[in-house]
Amino acid sequence: MSAHSEVKRVTTHTLQEMKLRKEKISCLTAYDFSLAQIVDAAGVDLILVGDSASNVIAGHETTLPITLDQMIFMAQAVVKGARRALVVVDLPFGSYQGNSEEALRSAIRIMKESGAHAVKMEGGLEIKESITRILSAGVPVMGHLGLTPQSIYKFGTYTVRAKEEAEAQKLIEDAQMLDAVGCFAMVLEKIPSVLTKQVSEAVGVPTVGIGAGPHADGQILVLHDLLGITKEFKPRFLRRYADLHQTMHEAISHYVSDVKAREFPNQAESY
Ligand code: KIV
Repeated sequence: MSAHSEVKRVTTHTLQEMKLRKEKISCLTAYDFSLAQIVDAAGVDLILVGDSASNVIAGHETTLPITLDQMIFMAQAVVKGARRALVVVDLPFGSYQGNSEEALRSAIRIMKESGAHAVKMEGGLEIKESITRILSAGVPVMGHLGLTPQSIYKFGTYTVRAKEEAEAQKLIEDAQMLDAVGCFAMVLEKIPSVLTKQVSEAVGVPTVGIGAGPHADGQILVLHDLLGITKEFKPRFLRRYADLHQTMHEAISHYVSDVKAREFPNQAESY
């Protein structure tokens, strides 16, 4: 038996079982092979190839510009690096909102060309037809409610969502719809903790929170934020587990000064 086959892959069913036995689900983003290997080996259950790559990888201000081809390129690398985690890929803006046929085509491209295990889509009732069409093709779908960054120009800000009763009610209805049509999980982004608790109790599938408090069935963060590679992004919900910005800056500056001082490479590092 190869080393590869010894690792048991997390599936959508594993996540469902984790919810039932109240074991929290750890999720993180990754966008390349090397970091996916580290994230996977550290025991993360679900890796999201998020369209947050538009910000942290491509340097765009929003998630809107990233393309389906670019998402597939990153997903291929992450799939190669992830031996255990379930790999989910964001359908990028413009690849599914138009019509359900286009949505299905985009989801199929991701599954076929990257080898990922599921797709994620932002929105509720408005995209129900696209979600059901993708699900009926056998592609697992993760929903995403609350702050949905692909709609930033509709909302105008990245502030906490669903604080008002009407928006909270719509979110609960959307969550119940996602659960009823067969999504295997849903992200709840930047909503009040009490609403996360309500939704998590109202749906059968796992909820995964980001800025949504402790009551979600799992948590997700953007890898570059958790590692402290991004410096300026400081929302209240973010806990930085390292200051890699500083560590990397020091290491690279050290390298530059060694090159300038002719101290790198030394004899042992030469042929
Ligand atoms: O794109 C992303 O990284 C996401 C997470 C923040 C949930 O959607």
